[in-house]
Amino acid sequence: MTAEIINITHEPQRAISEASRVLNDGFPVAIPTETVYGLAADATRADAISHIYETKGRPQFNPLICHVCDIEMAERYAVFDPASRKLAETFWPGPLTIVLPLRKDSTIHPLATAGLETVGLRCPEGFANDLIRDFGRPLAAPSANTSGKISPTSARHVMDDLGDKLQLIIDGGSSPVGVESTIIRVDPETGAILLLRPGGLAAMHIADAAGRDLERRSGPAAIIEAPGMLASHYAPGASVRLDATAIEPGEALIRFGGQPVAGAEKAAIDLDLSPSADLAQAAANLFEYLKRADASGASSIAVAPIPNEGLGEAINDRLGRAAAPRDGEE
Ligand code: TXA
Ligand code: MG
Repeated sequence: MTAEIINITHEPQRAISEASRVLNDGFPVAIPTETVYGLAADATRADAISHIYETKGRPQFNPLICHVCDIEMAERYAVFDPASRKLAETFWPGPLTIVLPLRKDSTIHPLATAGLETVGLRCPEGFANDLIRDFGRPLAAPSANTSGKISPTSARHVMDDLGDKLQLIIDGGSSPVGVESTIIRVDPETGAILLLRPGGLAAMHIADAAGRDLERRSGPAAIIEAPGMLASHYAPGASVRLDATAIEPGEALIRFGGQPVAGAEKAAIDLDLSPSADLAQAAANLFEYLKRADASGASSIAVAPIPNEGLGEAINDRLGRAAAPRDGEE
């Protein structure tokens, strides 16, 4: 099987109708979202969700983010506390996932939530939103890549990785945000807002809207809060060396903000995530540049320091995972 690619600019109606048809047959479709391309399937059907795991080659079942078209659809499946509701009203549609208690009568399949009593819900923008509205049910959608590989930010990335395992890829161009959504949960006891995964919505914007700072967990507790976020989740083939200020001959170089790096002229490839030091541009380029650096054939990718503010937190989180030891890879 080789996936058909439908471009949403050329064939907007057929993109929706064909995607809905494949979803109704119980199979996954790769779809563009503003963050990364997702491998979407009907969140209420066990067979459809099994196909996601099968396609990604995931050895274990992790909870998947379920995508809705608005708060009204979200309320059919989960219970909102006031703080979560305010954040949804402020940031949906957008790159924010909110972990909420499942309603007792929720029809989201336990395979999508890994049997937890909570569900991670996100309301995406654009084509994904239109598709969910047309389909009428939530779509479970992890990133559309083989487990353990870098997330795709173009239809071409999905085709290269999963083209022979999929029926349909919807091409919406390059993902504008470029890193996965930010995941939060409001602690029901204390009202604290926990940052479970930094992502495409900078934490400071969430803190501003909520009127309080976010709590960050690091170490094993963070992994239990957001199961499936193994350290080595975003691994390219080459090893990754962080905070590089000089490079060894033959290394691939990824840098930021036009900063000079000693030995850059000897790099196998020299990429700047954003010569103008724009963190949103750097996030949008991150996965594409990691793939290009990897494809250069270098055995090591040296990455220069990137400021840890705003979207820099998500960029450094993903780079940290790419650089982590590969033991226990998902
Ligand atoms: O930007 C995104 O969020 C992309 C696009 C496709 O929308 N989707 C994505 O989905 O990254 P996924 O399924 O790969 O995200 C899974 C993450 C995992 O880290 C998982 O632990 C966390 O979401 N998660 C999902 N449900 C959860 C829950 N009930 N409690 C805690 N973490 C949860
Ligand atoms: Mg992923």
